[in-house]
Amino acid sequence: MTSETGNSPDHFNRVSELFDDLPYMRPAQATILRDLIVNENASDLLEIGFFHGKSSAYFAAVLEDLGRGHLVTIDLEPARKREPNIEQVLATLNLGHRVTPIYAHRSYTWELAKMIQANPRPQFDFCYFDGGHTWDCTGFGFALVDMLLRPGGWIVFDDLKWTIKEAMKSRTSAPRYWRACSADESATPAVKLVFDTLVPHLGYTDIRMIDQRRWGIARKPLSGTERPTHSNGLLQRIAGFIGGH
Ligand SMILES: C[S@@+](CC[C@H](N)C(=O)[O-])C[C@H]1O[C@@H](n2cnc3c(N)ncnc32)[C@H](O)[C@@H]1O
Repeated sequence: MTSETGNSPDHFNRVSELFDDLPYMRPAQATILRDLIVNENASDLLEIGFFHGKSSAYFAAVLEDLGRGHLVTIDLEPARKREPNIEQVLATLNLGHRVTPIYAHRSYTWELAKMIQANPRPQFDFCYFDGGHTWDCTGFGFALVDMLLRPGGWIVFDDLKWTIKEAMKSRTSAPRYWRACSADESATPAVKLVFDTLVPHLGYTDIRMIDQRRWGIARKPLSGTERPTHSNGLLQRIAGFIGGH
C-alpha cells in the first residue's frame, strides 16, 4: 500500500500494528500530522511531551519513510520508568536513530531555555505541543518554542479542551500548582487560552482548530512582507478529512 503522498508508509503502519493499545496518539491523528510534515517538507521536528513515545514513534516513522529528518522530544525524568519507555518503543521499531529524547529535571521550559541559548540555536520546522497543559507552562513554553521555530514553521497544540478541574476528577493527588489555582483558573482551558491570545499576538497565520476542536494548529509568520494567509489548501483538506471547524 502507498500513501496519498506517494511515500511508502511501512514504518508508519508498523507503529499502528505493534503499539495499537499504547496511549496516546491515535492513527487518524498521526495521519493528519504525516500529511502536514510531507506537504510542508518538514524535517526538523520538536515535540513537547512524549509519555511512552507513541507520538514520537509516529513522527520517527514518518521521517524514516521519507528518508530524512530528526525529532527532538522532551518529557520529565519519570518518563524513563514507563513500561515501555520511549527508548524501548523506538528500539522495537528500529527508529532510535531518528529521535533525541530529552528527560527534563523539572520542566521542558528549562530545556528550551538551553536550546535558545545554544550557538547555533536549533531551528525546527514543526512542533507538536502536548505536555504541561497549564497556563504558565503552555504560555511560557509557546513563547520559547516560537524562538525555535523557523519562519513559516508550524505548531500543533493538543488538548485545547483540557482543564485542571476535569483533570482533578481522575486523580487521587494533584500537583501543588493545580491545587493553588482559583476556581476560574481551574475551569479555564488553558491551552485554548494560549491558542486564542498569544498565538495571534505573535502574528501566527492559518490559525485553525481541528480534530473535533481538540487540536489547534497555526503557522509562524514568514519574515518581512511575505505573509501567506493559507498554505497550499492543506488546512482545507485537513478540515475536510476530520470534519474540523
Ligand atoms: C499526554 S502526554 C504526551 C503523549 C504523547 N505526546 C503521545 O501522544 O503519545 C503529556 C506528557 O507531558 C509531560 N509533561 C507534563 N508537564 C511537563 C513539563 N513541565 N516538562 C516536561 N514534560 C512534561 C508528562 O510527563 C506526559 O508524559
